[in-house]
Formats: sequence, C-alpha cells, structure tokens
Amino acid sequence: MKAIEIRNKYLNFFKKHNHKIIPSAPLIPENDPSVLFTTAGMQPLVPYLLGEKHPEGKRLADYQKCLRTVDIEEVGDNRHLTYFEMLGNWSLGDYFKEESIQMSFDFLTKELQIPVEKLSVTCFAGDKDCEKDEVSANVWKKVGIPEDHIYYYGKEDNWWIAGEEGPCGPDTEIFYDTGKPACSDNCQPSCDCGKYVEIWNNVFMEFFKEKDGTYRKLEQKNVDTGLGLERMAMLLQGKETPFDTELFKPVMDKLEELQKVDDIQSRRIVAEHLRSSMMIISDGGRPSNIDRGYVLRRLIRRMIRHLNKLQIDLSELTNLIKLDIETLKEMYKELEQNQETIISVILEEKEKFVKTLITGEREFEKEVTKLKKENKKQIEGKIVFKLYDTYGFPPEVTKELAEENGMTIDKKEFDELFKKHQEKSRQGSEQKFKGGLADQNEKTISYHTATHLLHQALRQVLGEHVKQCGSNITEERLRFDFTHPQKMTKEELQKVEDLVNEQIKRDLKVTCEEMSYEDAKKSGAIGLFTDKYGDRVKVYTIGDFSKEICGGPHVTHTGDMGTFKIKKEESSSSGVRRIKAVLIK
Ligand code: SER
Repeated sequence: MKAIEIRNKYLNFFKKHNHKIIPSAPLIPENDPSVLFTTAGMQPLVPYLLGEKHPEGKRLADYQKCLRTVDIEEVGDNRHLTYFEMLGNWSLGDYFKEESIQMSFDFLTKELQIPVEKLSVTCFAGDKDCEKDEVSANVWKKVGIPEDHIYYYGKEDNWWIAGEEGPCGPDTEIFYDTGKPACSDNCQPSCDCGKYVEIWNNVFMEFFKEKDGTYRKLEQKNVDTGLGLERMAMLLQGKETPFDTELFKPVMDKLEELQKVDDIQSRRIVAEHLRSSMMIISDGGRPSNIDRGYVLRRLIRRMIRHLNKLQIDLSELTNLIKLDIETLKEMYKELEQNQETIISVILEEKEKFVKTLITGEREFEKEVTKLKKENKKQIEGKIVFKLYDTYGFPPEVTKELAEENGMTIDKKEFDELFKKHQEKSRQGSEQKFKGGLADQNEKTISYHTATHLLHQALRQVLGEHVKQCGSNITEERLRFDFTHPQKMTKEELQKVEDLVNEQIKRDLKVTCEEMSYEDAKKSGAIGLFTDKYGDRVKVYTIGDFSKEICGGPHVTHTGDMGTFKIKKEESSSSGVRRIKAVLIK
C-alpha cells in the first residue's frame, strides 16, 4: 500500500468516527518562538489540549508535517529520517482509553489488514506519579491482543512529553513484529534489535508537568496519537527501509544511475536531506547561520558533500529536485507550487558552499597531516569551529571527513565555542519545546496583537496589496514580512506607526468569534488565505480597526500594550518587505 493510500485510509477512517479533519500546520510554527520546527502532530494543538476550545470540535484528525533534527547524524542508516509525516487523531476531553484503543485496533486490523498476531503492545507500569495502566491493558485483551503480547514499562518507555514541561501522560505503544528472529530469549518490544518496530503511539494526556518536575492533573482528559507514515508504508510494503518505498525510490535509483562511486549511505543522506530541505523551503524556510536557517543550511550542505562523495556532478541537482517534486507532489502539492523557489534556494546555497568547500577540505587535510604526525586521533573543537566559521563546514560534515581518516572530533569543545559565538542561536531548541502558544506570556501576546494592528495599518497606508507573508515574535520584538514592491518612505513609516499607536490609545476591545471559513472571508476578515485553515476558524476583531483570522491568543483590550515603535524596514526577499518593531512600556 502506497503512503498516500495509508494517509487517505486513515483520514477517512477517523472521519467516519466523527473526527473533523484539520489541515497540517506548517513545518515552521507561526508566532511561536519557543520551537524551531513542528516535531509532532500535537504541537500546534497544545492550547486545545490545555482546555482552549477548538473551533472544529473535540475530535480531530490530521496528517502533520514534522521535522526532528536530534538524529541528523544518524541519517544514512536504514531507518532514521529528519522529515517525516505523522498521522494523528485527538480527543480534546472527549473519548479516552477504551474508544481510542478500539479505533487503533480496528484501523490496523481491518483497514490495513494487519494480522493480530503481528501486534504487540506496551502499557505504563505505574509509579509514584501515576498508577499502572491496567485499564488500557484490559481493553487490549478485550479487543483480542493475547496476554503474552502485552508488556509493561516505566516512564522511560511509556510516558510521552514534548520536552521538559507541558501536557503529558502515560502512553500505550503498538509494535509490529517484522518476523525477524528474536535476538535473545528476552527479546521484546523495548529491544532495539529490529524485530519489533513501533508503529503507533496513543498518549493519554491527562497530566501537566510543571517546571519544578511535579505533575498536576489537567482539567480535561485528552488523547493524542501519532503514527509514522513512512514507517508504516515500509512495513506494509515488506521493505527493509523507508528508502525502498515509493517515497524515496525514484531518487535513490537515479542516484545509483548517476554515481561513479557506490555508497548506499551517501545515497540515503542525499535523498533524505533533499526531501527535508524541500519541505522546509516550501514552508518558508531559508538557509542562514542561526536557528531554523542553520538547520536548513546543514541539510543542504551535507547533501552537497555526499553528492560529491558519490562523484555526481552538481549540475544534476536541478533534475534531482524536479524528480523529487514529481515523486512527492501528489502528497504535497505545495512542493509543485514552490518548485521555482525550491530550486533557486538550493542552488544558491550550493554556490555558497562550493566556493569554500575546496579550500576548506585543503585546510582540513593540512590539519589531519599535522595530527597524524603527532599521532593524535582527535580533531580539536577549535579546528572544527574554524572550519565552520571560515569555510561553512557544518560539524557533521567535519565529523564524517574525520571518520574517513580514522579520527574523531571534539564535539563538546565545538559546541561550547559555537554557543559562545552566537548567543542568539537556539539550535536544538526543539528539544526544549515547552508548549507552543499556550506558553506565551503577556509580552508575546501583546506583540501578537500589535502584529494585527500593524498588518491593518500597512493596508490602510500602503494599500490592499499588502499581504502577510511571515511573522515572528519574541519577547523583545515583532518581525513582520509583507508584500510591497518598494522601500517604504519615512512618511509612510511614520503614518503606520502613528496609526498603530492611535489604536492602542483608543483602548479598543479585542473580541473573538468562531465561524465558518466562508463566513470569515465574507465578513471581510483578513488572513493568510492559504489552504491551511480548517472549515471553522476563529476571527479576532480589534474594535472597528481590524478583523483577522487567527488562532490567538490576544490581549483583551489594547490600552496596556505600550508604545509601538518601528525599528527597521528592509527588504526580505524580492517583492517582500520586513518590519521589525518593538513595544515600549
Ligand atoms: N505525541 C506523541 C508522539 O509524538 C503521539 O502523537 O509520539
């Protein structure tokens, strides 16, 4: 069964069970500085797991584009991916363990026709924070999982939380037996030998973990499930790796045809990083030296290096991108829509890297020769950092070069230098994911409302052609990208600033209404008007000044927001301007 068929079956199944199908949120979370990329389906839903009412109701399902970079160095083996698609269904204070397990079981055994004997499940063993999950185990028995296929584990295996604090709870995980021989008499789902593969995680989110490590019960009992699409496709197709499925096969085959040096790991790295880079770019990411941009830069540069290792001419890149878009466009039509941008961003980054690649490799070789003479086997962190800083070598590239020479790198020292060098970088902060919008404080909420005022003010001063193309908020400032063909004049900037401050002074009331997307459009509400909205949306109105489709949260009235000041107006990309502004209290 092809991945897209699994996705469609999944969404249809949950639709039949009264779930509303919501669109995938973008890979790059909007207005959420606490996280780099969307790493799980639940992430955009955190406010609703914590009790906010979702406009589409209490039963939701979707496919969610996700990216996890913690395992970036592992990509190249037979299973790790950075980008993946997660199918998920949620109960926001509606059904709980019994119905959730029953639906998962029915979907797997009836819709996907997986034989029951292939399935094993794990449940939470219980500890001081939460009791043993016998309820789930009993439901599993009732639906037909034999007792000796039910295992209990502690928090390390059967408890799910994104990061250190936030909504969480015990989970029950479903494993697929690949039929490989057991690695020992004690081989079981928690074992890493490859016999058992986790296919679905049902989290019973009824707790909130506080900063101090304590747990409190949430007001509502939620269900959050996640099923990895690539893995499911691989298993159902009887393939050994996701790279053998239709999602990667065309590019993998093409690489094999083009290569002059045979290296399966390099082919996987190229195929994987190409797909991830395309998905990030398509959702608005651009390479840079910090945060998300840095992740994208590393993905593209590592891909280039492995194309070089395969001795594939880099002029093939455009065709490889086109081939990959052709392969994936049925699942992600945005790739086709953004084809030109994807090609130009990747090629531009390739040009930048290629310029320094040869000199960087020479520098690397000089170092290695020196170290070999001294009989040393580890490359100092400061050399790794120099290669990064001067030649743009991502550390994993240097690490691979080192390994090819039988050496290691001092990653710890590199990390320290890297951190010092860019205080601002939040690389890896997706691990520290704290709870999305629900975690916003007074400052970020004010900036969010200020963004709406700015958006409307720009439309009044410059014209209706102004459309939001990006927004980013921290506790210190807002950043807003919008379409406008030329630099704004001083007078225009002043007018916009004044207009926003006027609305703040008027102490306008901010109200929120739920309505259908069609009604929202008819009511004149502005928004991104892409396909990312569901059927029902929230519309925030600020007095008589602004009406915009948005998930919130916002201030209740504008009076206490402070004074709005535009700090900078600059070009962001062609036809797109960027404003940075602050609120001074
Ligand atoms: N949040 C859980 C996970 O990521 C289930 O969706 O596994």
